[in-house]
Amino acid sequence: MTDLTADLAINGGAPVRTTLLPYARQSITDEDVAAVAAALRSDWLTTGPRVPAFERELASYTGARHAIAFSSGTAALHGAAIAAGLGPGDEAVTTPMTFVATANCVLYAGAEPRFADVDPGTLLIRPETVREAITTRTRAILAVDYAGQPADYAALRSVADGAPGGPAVLIADASHSLGATLHGRRVGTLADMSILSLHPAKILTTGEGGAVLTDDDRLADRLRRFRNHGIGAELAARRDWTYDMVELGYNYRLTDIGAALGSSQLTRIDAFLERRRALAAHYLARLGGHAYLEVPAVAPGAHPAWHFMFVRLRLDRLRVGRGEVFRALRAEGIGVNVHYIPVHRHSFYRERYPDVSAPIAEAAYERLLTLPLFTGMSTADADDVVAALDKVTSAYRAG
Ligand SMILES: Cc1ncc(COP(=O)(O)O)c(C=O)c1O
Repeated sequence: MTDLTADLAINGGAPVRTTLLPYARQSITDEDVAAVAAALRSDWLTTGPRVPAFERELASYTGARHAIAFSSGTAALHGAAIAAGLGPGDEAVTTPMTFVATANCVLYAGAEPRFADVDPGTLLIRPETVREAITTRTRAILAVDYAGQPADYAALRSVADGAPGGPAVLIADASHSLGATLHGRRVGTLADMSILSLHPAKILTTGEGGAVLTDDDRLADRLRRFRNHGIGAELAARRDWTYDMVELGYNYRLTDIGAALGSSQLTRIDAFLERRRALAAHYLARLGGHAYLEVPAVAPGAHPAWHFMFVRLRLDRLRVGRGEVFRALRAEGIGVNVHYIPVHRHSFYRERYPDVSAPIAEAAYERLLTLPLFTGMSTADADDVVAALDKVTSAYRAG
């Protein structure tokens, strides 16, 4: 067998790309810049008219009755945990295959996260394992639309409704899935509350930012209050100097500068999604049936938003681990990443919850790679990723 490892860039060979293709990159146009500049020149850098305008546009796009903007996805998750009524003695069932912020919000509220394992094809939380993790203390189910595919909310709803301690609140961490649909229904309308992250790596950005989408008027009121120190009426609604803090809240407000960017971006959301879906389809077509990789399964009824594309290495057919493949791909100029280190494997969580069992998430993590996918990427860029994957995996093949 010929040794192909000498050709790898990590060993001094010519790289597939001479400049790094990042795994994510925001799309910013002159119109975005002009919208932000107009906000900067206005009287309102924050708590002005652009935030409610952006909220109305987000609500109208997603079909949710309310969109409540926050300063980050993490702040929005914190708000959702509080609005769901989570507190000491309560539990929320969530997935280990997510960014730590998803589980952290449960702890912020003084409640305890419980981890339910994922589906081996999609890496989405499995309603069956959620059912097994539920106890009389469960007050919420916190699913994550991993990689941009909606979780199975109909099945999760029936698990939530049947919780032994009374119906649990169903929360979607939709940080990856703005614009996705499930059986024709839009993300934002599938759970009691859906959380968006508007970080630059995400589908749409406000710089830092987030939002909660909900149809429930009561939850919306609570969320608005919570993001503004727990003060009842917002600034614009006040008639004089008085205001009343009715519960402990935070300053989690989005700025008008961020909202201006968000509104401008939202006018291009359909094009963003079309491009992401085209790139994902290209990856799936070129990498499906690959000798050394497995591509994700698409969830039944899902039209994903594809925040990122992930593959799993067939380590049984390679003579190196994921770390070597990762480093070799980076040397080839491909900005691969890994989403995610399972939450319960972080030191903080390991110490507190040493007995978590999530064998599917753990096994997937050992083999996971995130491939570059963003709106400004070309099909030729995706072909470079495929070429680098072919080059590196065939150089490292076993036998
Ligand atoms: C699934 C998920 N949840 C929550 C967050 C936190 O969002 P933010 O970075 O906007 O606070 C992220 C972002 O990294 C995420 O990917």
